[in-house]
Amino acid sequence: MSEAGQQWDTGLYDAHHSFVTRYGADLLNLLNPQPGERILDLGCGTGHLTQQIAASGATVVGMDHAAAMVEQARANYPELTFFQGDAANFQVESPFTAVLSNAVLHWVLTPEQVLASVYAALLPGGRFVAEFGGQGNIALLSAGILAALDSLGYSPPARPVWYFPSPAAYATLLEAAGFRVALLAHFDRPTRLDGEHGLRNWIAMFGGPLLVNVPPDARAALVEAAERRLRPTLYRDGAWYADYVRLRVVALKTAG
Ligand code: BEZ
Repeated sequence: MSEAGQQWDTGLYDAHHSFVTRYGADLLNLLNPQPGERILDLGCGTGHLTQQIAASGATVVGMDHAAAMVEQARANYPELTFFQGDAANFQVESPFTAVLSNAVLHWVLTPEQVLASVYAALLPGGRFVAEFGGQGNIALLSAGILAALDSLGYSPPARPVWYFPSPAAYATLLEAAGFRVALLAHFDRPTRLDGEHGLRNWIAMFGGPLLVNVPPDARAALVEAAERRLRPTLYRDGAWYADYVRLRVVALKTAG
């Protein structure tokens, strides 16, 4: 994960947000890691997907911006290598055959810098396989939180807090960075959140950047107001759903 100012609660992440890793399994199929490959897991979180890549026989290294995530990943998988690094500005000693990134790149508001770093980290012929929030991601969820903020008299954040590009915009950036776009998909993926408190757990885990102007002792009331507003659209069949829209990418560093 990668976002200055975002506090990561690794316990809450592993306890209630395992869907992040579960959906990452699809991405792993697309990556199709092979024994002998060297793969970077960019934004490895607590390391579960990194471990699944390692199980394929590839050599894998996990990188995360958050020290707490790196520490937890090392505790979860002491046999694997993890390091702290910024997705928008990192260098590697020896280049990789592939870079994988799951549910991370919407946290980084400087995508050109991410793509330059990824491109430099790949061998010629290497592939960049990523999935993150695309245009329209959490439109209902964030509108509900913003409406709750307004109803209680709190200001929204002054600037965008996440990056959810359209496929056209992201393809342009990939090509400008030197990649050939082999696959670019933009699709809805309503995501069931864990349990009756799924929405409040999601806000506690990920919503901090939207709540910067809410004092800590007012957050519970804000969350309740958001739940009231969002229940008609995001609660069904006994569960909360986040209105995720994904961008899935396979891009190649063409040889030569
Ligand atoms: C996402 O996975 O789409 C997401 C997660 C946290 C904040 C914003 C978006």
